[in-house]
Amino acid sequence: MLKGKSLLEPMDFSIEEYEELFTLADDIIANPSKYAHSCEGKLLATLFYEPSTRTRFSFEAAMLRLGGKVIGFSEPNSSSATKGESIADTIRTVACYCDIAVIRHPKEGAPRVAAQNTDIPVINAGDGGHQHPTQTLTDLLTIRSERGSFSDMTVGLCGDLKFGRTVHSLIKALSRYQNIRFILISPEELRIPEYVRKEILIKNGIAFEEVERMQDVLSKLDILYMTRVQRERFFNEQDYIRLKDSYILDAEKMKQAKDSMMVLHPLPRVNEIAVDVDADPRALYFKQAKYGMYVRMALIMSLLGGEIK
Ligand code: CP
Repeated sequence: MLKGKSLLEPMDFSIEEYEELFTLADDIIANPSKYAHSCEGKLLATLFYEPSTRTRFSFEAAMLRLGGKVIGFSEPNSSSATKGESIADTIRTVACYCDIAVIRHPKEGAPRVAAQNTDIPVINAGDGGHQHPTQTLTDLLTIRSERGSFSDMTVGLCGDLKFGRTVHSLIKALSRYQNIRFILISPEELRIPEYVRKEILIKNGIAFEEVERMQDVLSKLDILYMTRVQRERFFNEQDYIRLKDSYILDAEKMKQAKDSMMVLHPLPRVNEIAVDVDADPRALYFKQAKYGMYVRMALIMSLLGGEIK
């Protein structure tokens, strides 16, 4: 039972709980009208201290499609955070008005602090360069729906693996499935953090290699997960400019990939996937954004204990 829980990082839910969510998302996709009143009378708060298009809109659309309502802010300057209010006091106040809260914050751990100061469910919508568990739910539902299973695959993760929180969360979540191999494609400076390498990959005996050239490994991949270089996390603009175009996937490079390879991207993209890839049937990133709304519907409904009415 997920009712009343918070989702702060991917391992907060078991594999069985993930499956429960995906099964519900499947039914929502097949029968959306069945769920149109499931969260009637409930209020979702979106507290976004950092910019977002997909995560905020998909959460808001999800709650509205479930018959609930939404309040919130899309940038901290319109909240009392500018007056110095702490995240703990903010969530205590928001919980007086709302039934569930979604928080994106530049500081790692901020959603956890919020969850420790309230009884309402808190969902981490991205905390700094740390984790983004609902993007992982999105990624997993996409893989499950388009491929059928999470086992026996080689997953290439390409780009900014240091600051890319979606990458950290996806590695964590996939590490629980059978026979997964990771190929981590990044410049030396943007390799995965040491805690991901040691505490997740090495500790669990997961096969992985770290390479710098995408072309050398493209033909081996079942999934290519592209990411943008995270400009907002760099201390030095010159480093960002030097690294930002390290990888550009285009139609020419796609010729080397398997016919069945899936191209995923959490979006937004900058230059790392050329628009000439968009028409390729293996390019699933916009479909992925849509799966994000359905899995967030399943998540909100499960955490609130919503019922079919
Ligand atoms: N994937 C993702 O988190 O996108 P947004 O930053 O637009 O929410």
